[in-house]
Amino acid sequence: MRRRLLTIAMLAAAGSCGGEHSPAPLSPAAQRGEALFRAHCAACHSIEDGGNISAPALGGIVGRPAGSSGFAYSAAMRNSGIIWTREKLDRYLAAPREVVPDNEMAFFGMADPAMRSDLVEYLASTRATEP
Ligand code: HEC
Repeated sequence: MRRRLLTIAMLAAAGSCGGEHSPAPLSPAAQRGEALFRAHCAACHSIEDGGNISAPALGGIVGRPAGSSGFAYSAAMRNSGIIWTREKLDRYLAAPREVVPDNEMAFFGMADPAMRSDLVEYLASTRATEP
């Protein structure tokens, strides 16, 4: 019985090493970032295209031009001219309204730089998916 439980635990652990969309195991920082994403962003955003209609999908956001995922963005976001580098994302997450005035994301910002850094690390580990 004990051995059987151990096998099940091992299978469960192997299964959690990476989902369909993220075959590489996440770094510890990205794992913390994933938990932060679930707590602070996932109510509106998803990583997968088409997964959520209340906010743009964020898979593969690092390196992407702002307002380019097919979401019905505000003019402010669409015309911001931003490329989402890690630094830009960090500043946007700290103070969304300062970086993109009049953008429509109802999120006041995340003050803790360590949390932002983990979040950006997680976002950088994601990839865009087909809708
Ligand atoms: C209350 C809903 C909501 C929450 C919570 C939220 N967002 Fe947003 N986010 C939006 C909306 C809506 C937009 C589009 C804004 C616009 O068009 O002006 C957006 C835009 C963005 C963009 C720009 C996307 C692009 O394609 O250019 C990024 C990056 C982003 N959010 C990251 C985050 C992260 C990371 C979190 C969690 C810390 C978060 N957001 C929390 C609703 C939300």
